[in-house]
Amino acid sequence: MTSWVTGGPVNSPFASPSGLLGRLAGRFMFWTNRQADVLPVLDVRPGDHVLEVGYGPGALIELLAMTGAGRICGVDPSPEMRTQAARRTGTADLRLGSASETGFPDESFDRVVSVNTVALWPGLETGLAELRRVTRRGGRLVLAWHGGTAPSFIARGLRLPEDKLARIRSGLDELFDDVERHELKTLTVFAAS
Ligand SMILES: C[S@@+](CC[C@H](N)C(=O)[O-])C[C@H]1O[C@@H](n2cnc3c(N)ncnc32)[C@H](O)[C@@H]1O
Repeated sequence: MTSWVTGGPVNSPFASPSGLLGRLAGRFMFWTNRQADVLPVLDVRPGDHVLEVGYGPGALIELLAMTGAGRICGVDPSPEMRTQAARRTGTADLRLGSASETGFPDESFDRVVSVNTVALWPGLETGLAELRRVTRRGGRLVLAWHGGTAPSFIARGLRLPEDKLARIRSGLDELFDDVERHELKTLTVFAAS
């Protein structure tokens, strides 16, 4: 797996969780990543169709199930993560897929969200175009990555440099009418609609 950020391979159990290390990585992510913080930015309305890209162990999927969303779907390339996430929710439609290939028809979702995955994508523009494609006109895409005003010690080392954040911003500006950047406690978040 290569990343658009480094142009090189990503060798991390968090990027492509599999085997024993992947199982442990999933548990670590479940307990440490603060998923609830993105919910106010995502602003799911009753009945909304929501897609999470890179659901990992399913912590956000579990929270989305409590929002009143009408349909919750997810894609992640890791079969191990699918197994872990599926244990946490009986109702979500969790599939294998990726940011560049979700497998869903055009304009399927009112809300699309991805937390701590964007720097792992092989191609930024390809991923953004795919997520724009599946987001309804008037819908919202929320992309979050480690950062924010008070990142943990580990997250500090994972923050993206400003030039990479600027590339995400300009990629979103090309595809959406309105793009906002938010600095949450442990996440830098782009909301595009
Ligand atoms: C660091 S984990 C984050 C998981 C979860 N969103 C969280 O915040 O706890 C990264 C996740 O992104 C998934 N992933 C890796 N490459 C991806 C891609 N190209 N598109 C979508 N998800 C990807 C991995 O399988 C893994 O589940």
